[in-house]
Formats: sequence, structure tokens, C-alpha cells
Amino acid sequence: MIEDREPVRVALLGCGTVGTEVLRLLRERPAEFAARTGAPVEVTGVAVRRPHKHPDVPEHLITTDAHALVEGDVDLVVELVGGIEPARSLLLAALRSGKSVVTANKALLAEYGSELFAAADESGVDIYFEASVAGAIPLLRPLRESLAGDRINRVMGIVNGTTNYILSAMDASGSTYSEALEEAGELGYAEADPTADVDGFDAAAKAAILASLAFHTRVTATDVHREGIAGVSAGDIAAAQGLDRSVKLLSICERVVDDDGTEAVSARVHPAMIPKSHPLAGVNGAFNAVFVEAESAGQLMFYGQGAGGSPTASAVLGDLVAVARNLVESGKGPRESAHAQLPVQSMGSTPTRYHISLDVEDKPGVLSQVASTFNEHDVSISVVRQEGRGEDASLVVVTHVAPDSALRSTVDAIARLSVVRDVVSVMRVEGESS
Ligand code: NDP
Ligand code: HSE
Repeated sequence: MIEDREPVRVALLGCGTVGTEVLRLLRERPAEFAARTGAPVEVTGVAVRRPHKHPDVPEHLITTDAHALVEGDVDLVVELVGGIEPARSLLLAALRSGKSVVTANKALLAEYGSELFAAADESGVDIYFEASVAGAIPLLRPLRESLAGDRINRVMGIVNGTTNYILSAMDASGSTYSEALEEAGELGYAEADPTADVDGFDAAAKAAILASLAFHTRVTATDVHREGIAGVSAGDIAAAQGLDRSVKLLSICERVVDDDGTEAVSARVHPAMIPKSHPLAGVNGAFNAVFVEAESAGQLMFYGQGAGGSPTASAVLGDLVAVARNLVESGKGPRESAHAQLPVQSMGSTPTRYHISLDVEDKPGVLSQVASTFNEHDVSISVVRQEGRGEDASLVVVTHVAPDSALRSTVDAIARLSVVRDVVSVMRVEGESS
């Protein structure tokens, strides 16, 4: 009988938006978890910062001493505290004392992943982290396991629910940036410090995790070029709408191959215009979606709820069952795979395309001065359009692909032209052929 077997003892660190849901489901469905794991799953303690905020957690479980809980009689530690410390010390202590770990902590994994994987390896225990990228969407296990026999060339997607919620609201209803950010916080999508979301740190951490798994290379958050959405104005959204495009915060991880065959990894997070007809343009609210392009599998798309307590708890509990089953059956999950160790390419060398909107003087020769500046920087123009007349004249230019540094220098030189009154909007363009 399963109920008579030794239980898998679980320590839950953190009982906030995600932890509350994890605990609720474990307590409400013990028979299901036991059947799927092969042994009862017993929560032996719940560590929080402010116990008085948790009247629903049984008193005998709650503690503020997370270290004692981790060092105690437990088999599996579920970390839902977030941030670097004390999460890092707690997880290292757990792994070094032979306890398996489930975590949703992308900030920690993106910075100290290799230290945690090494500790797990040395102790022969598991570390699972499906919830750390794209909430409920099963994405890391496909990358780590299902596609382990393939060669991934590109991973591109929307992996931050808060910023997608904000950009969708600005696009659909003309909400202001701050109204939409407040709503995202109330719905439990935003991080404790929402600058992690809006400045792109959260998406960059996720891009580092995705690039590491996809390219079998250690990529940290600092390797990822990062731009957030704070600079996206109502004017940018309107400019995109005028061209039948949407603005999305994209995480793009690519295998880049030089003419001589040398390979590198490029990882970047920035807002970009994509055509309304592109499947990512239809991903709204806190939903996430990720495209994976692999050599043999071709294109795969993963879509679902990328944030929020309940969706994230689904991913955490999936990991918990997998790790608990390994404990019961003496199995072992996948280890870190970083054998390729490709170099990380700088953003300046990465090929991108720009959309540039200029406020210009309406007189002969303006277009030729602007076009010459592109030519001088070896940047080829794909589309150019003048709108308005006189004081209202504006010029919209969309380039072909060029190294990002060449595009950036072109914009700087254009801003210095006397015929250009203002550079109104500069945004990268993705999702269409160059
Ligand atoms: P919350 O801020 O809602 O919860 C954090 C919990 O950790 C709280 O219960 C808090 O206690 C507890 N805590 C904080 N510091 C300590 C400490 N020193 N010792 C013990 N407990 C502590 O975070 P979330 O639930 O939103 O996120 C948890 C993790 O999941 C993070 O890594 C996050 O990035 C990740 N994640 C979150 C998603 C989401 O949509 N929210 C989605 C995907 C991943 P108290 O309640 O007493 O303050
Ligand atoms: N703050 C994150 C987001 C939570 O908005 O996507 C999910 O990782």
C-alpha cells in the first residue's frame, strides 16, 4: 500500500503568491500526489518572513527559521522565496546535505546556476526548475530532455508576463504605463520589485536559462544584452500600429555562425516591433509564448500562462512529483549540460533591423541626406516613407539587417543632421524576413 510507504518529506521555503497555491494543492489532494509519486508527500515545514500574515498555514508547520528547516529531517526542498540571498545559501545547504531541490528562482539560477548544479552533482541529488521560465508552460523539460538529441538554433519569445500585460494594455485600450503596471502587480504577476520586470532583468535571467539549456553553454544574466520597456512611449505604440505591427518585449537566444563556421551564442532582451500577423503579436496579457527552432524538429511553439500563483504552482508541483518519484525509485533527473561552451557574441556584432521615425524639415534634399547617412554606415534601407507636410513632416525608415553597432551609429549620426528636428522613435524589428 502506497500510504504505508515512507513519506517524501518536503520543506517549503516561501509561502507567497506561488507558495500558497503549492501548499493548498498539496494539502487538498494528498491521495493524487501519493499515487503519482509512489509514496505519501508530507510537508514538514513552511518557512516565511512574517508568520502573522499566514493564518491559513497550520501553526505546527510555520517557521521563520528556514535554515533549520532545510537542515532538518527533509528529503526535498521547494524554494519559492525568490532573490539571491538567503535563497542561494539555503539551496546550497540543502544540496550539500543530500536534499533534492525544486525552485522557481530564475534570478538565482541565471547568476549561480553552475554553482547549484555542481553542488547537486557532487551530492547525487536533483535540481528541477521548470517554473523559473514561462510559468506554467512546459518548456525547460522539452529543452533539457525531449530535444536533447537535436540541435537548437533559435529560441525567441515573450517570457515576462508583467511587461506583456503592460504593452498589451497600452496597445489595446490606451492604458497608461503606470495604470497597467499597478494592475499587473495586483494580479500577482509582477516581481516583489517590479523594476526586475520593466527593466528587463527578469526576462534576461530567463533568456540566460534558455540559452544555457538550448546551446549547452553556461550563459549568465550579465551575458544577456538587456533593454526594458520603460522607454516605450505611446508614440512608439502608435508608430507600430500605423505599420500594422505590435510592440513586444522579446527574449532572443540564437546560435550565430560566422562565415568561417565559428559558432557563438547571442542572447538579448529588448522591445521590438513585430507584424500583427506574427503569432507572437497575438500573445496578450500575462500569457507567454516561445518559439524554438531546431535542426531536425523544425519550428515548435510553446504557449500558455507565464505568471501568477496557480499557473506557476502547476510547474512547481510537476517538478515536485518528478523529483519525489526519483527519490522513491532511486532515479535521477538530468544533470547540467554545458559541454559546448560557445562564446557569447556582443550585442554590437549581432545582426538586427531597426525601425526609425524622424521628425524632419520638409524641404528638398532631406531624404538624400538621411539616405547618405545610412549608406556611409553600410546600412541598407528596406522601406522609407514620408508622412505629413511642413511642420508635421515625418520620415519612417525600416532597415535591412545590419550589425547592431552600425545601426546604433547611424541613428546617432542622423540625430546630428541639421534637417532632423527629432528622432521620435527607434525600435528593432523582428519576425519578418529582411
Ligand atoms: P512572493 O514575494 O509572493 O513570496 C515570497 C515568499 O518568501 C513570502 O512568503 C515571504 O514571506 C517568503 N520569504 C521572503 N524572505 C524570506 C526569508 N528570508 N525567509 C523565509 N521566507 C522568506 O513571491 P512569489 O511567490 O511571487 O515568487 C516566488 C518565486 O517564484 C520567485 O523566485 C519568483 O521569481 C518565482 N516566480 C514567480 C511567479 C509569479 O507569477 N509570481 C512566476 C514564476 C516564478 P512573507 O510572506 O512572510 O513575507
Ligand atoms: N514577474 C514574472 C513575470 C513572473 O511577470 O513574468 C513570472 O516569472
